[in-house]
Amino acid sequence: MGLFKFSDSSRNPLKNLELRSLLSEFNRSLTLIADKKLLIDNIISRIKQIVPVEQVYIFLFNESTGRYVPEGNFLPPLLDGRSIYFTPGGRLFNWLSVNESELYVIDRPDVLDYLEPIEHARLDHLRAELIYPLSVMNELNGAVFLSKRTDNGSYSKDDFGLLSLLFDQAAFAIEHSILHEQQRERVTKMYRADRLAVLGELAAGAAHEIRNPLTAIRSTIQYLSRDTSDPVRSEMLTEVISEVDRINKILQGLLSFARPGDLNVTTFNFEELLSQVITLINPTVKKNNVNLESVVDAQNPFFSGDKDQLRQVLLNILMNSLDAMANNPEDREKRLMVSMKNVFTGSPAIPYLDIAVTDSGCGISNENIEKIFNPFFTTKSEGTGLGLAICYGIVRRHDGDIEVISHKDNGTSMIIHLPQNVTRTS
Ligand SMILES: Nc1ncnc2c1ncn2[C@@H]1O[C@H](COP(=O)(O)OP(=O)(O)O)[C@@H](O)[C@H]1O
Ligand SMILES: [Mg+2]
Repeated sequence: MGLFKFSDSSRNPLKNLELRSLLSEFNRSLTLIADKKLLIDNIISRIKQIVPVEQVYIFLFNESTGRYVPEGNFLPPLLDGRSIYFTPGGRLFNWLSVNESELYVIDRPDVLDYLEPIEHARLDHLRAELIYPLSVMNELNGAVFLSKRTDNGSYSKDDFGLLSLLFDQAAFAIEHSILHEQQRERVTKMYRADRLAVLGELAAGAAHEIRNPLTAIRSTIQYLSRDTSDPVRSEMLTEVISEVDRINKILQGLLSFARPGDLNVTTFNFEELLSQVITLINPTVKKNNVNLESVVDAQNPFFSGDKDQLRQVLLNILMNSLDAMANNPEDREKRLMVSMKNVFTGSPAIPYLDIAVTDSGCGISNENIEKIFNPFFTTKSEGTGLGLAICYGIVRRHDGDIEVISHKDNGTSMIIHLPQNVTRTS
C-alpha cells in the first residue's frame, strides 16, 4: 500500500507543499502517543478533520483471540449483541493482504461478490464504503473502515492518495504503540513474579510458626466445648472454632502459594480434568441457578503437567466466577461458560491449550484489575485474596499465562494459556 496516487499534485507546487505540511503535522501528532487506545482515538479524530467522513473504525489483529477486532474508544455498535470482528482466514482480509491497496466498495462489485455473506453483513453494519489495509513490513496488522462522506459526495482519487499516505504513517505509529504495550506488560509481569517470590518466602516461615499453636488452641476449645451445657457458651465456642478454621484456611493457602512443591508431572487429557472439575462445582452451580455451558473443541487435549495443581487453578477460577455472579444482583442471566481449544501463536508457531472461563458476574473495575493477582487482595468479606496469586504461580510454573478481560458490572473472562510443547520433568 502507499502508492502515491495524486493525479495532479505533482504538477501543483502549492498543493504539494500543503500536503507535505499536513502529513508532517499528522505524523508529529502521532509519534508522541504511546498508549494504543489514545493513539487510535487520535488517528480517528484527525482523519475526520482532514477528510469529511461520518465514521471511521480501526480494526487490529488481536493475538489472544486470533481475530481482527475494533480498537479505541469509539467502537462500532454491536451486531446481534456481539462485537464485530474479522478473521485472518476470511476473504476480506485475504483480499486486503494480497492486494495491499484500498477497497472502494462501491467501485468493486466483483470484490463484493467474492466476500462471504457474513462479511457482507458486517460491512453493511459498519456502513463501510472505503477500506484501507494497515500493514507494516508486509504484515497486515489491521484495517480502517470509512463510511460515507458527510457531504454525501463520493471519494475522489485525491482522497485515495491522501488517505493512503496517512494510513501508512498511522500503521507505523500503531505498531510502535503495540510494541510499547507489550514491553509494559512484560515489566508488570516481572514485578508481579518478584513480589510473589519475596512474599512467598516470608509467608512460609510465618505460616509454619502460627500453625502449631493454632492446632493446640483448636483442640483445647473442642475439648472445652464438650463439657459445657450452656447453649450460649457452646455457641460462642463453636464460633471460635470456625474462626480458627478460617485462619487455618488462610495459612494453608499461604503455604501452598509459598511452597508449591515440585511439579508432579504426568501427561493427561485436559478435557477429562475439566469435566472432573465441572462435576465438582456442579452442586454450587445448580444451587445458584447458574447456566453453565462448556465448549470443548481441542483436537489435541493432552498436556504434560501437574494435574492436581492445575485442578486447583481451574477450581479457584471457577469459584471466583460463581462468587462474582452471586455478588451481582443485576445479573439475571447468570451465565458461566467454560471453553477449551488449541491455539497456535508466535513464529515459529507454538501450540497452546487455551482454557477460558467467562462469567456474567460483577466484573472488575479498572482500578482493581491490576491488583487481583496480588496476594491478600480481596473484595470479599470472607475472601483470603490468595486464590489468584496461587493460580498465577502454578500457571507460571507451567510456562503459561493468565489473561484477564473484565469490565465493571459486565462480567469477566479469565483465559489460561498453557504451552503444550514444553518438556517437563518432575
Ligand atoms: N470472575 C471474577 N469476577 C469478578 N471479580 C473477580 C473474579 N475473579 C477474581 N475477582 C476479584 O479478584 C479478587 C481476588 O481473587 P482471589 O485471589 O481468588 O481471592 P478471593 O477469592 O479470596 O477474594 C476477588 O476478591 C475479586 O475482587
Ligand atoms: Mg478466590
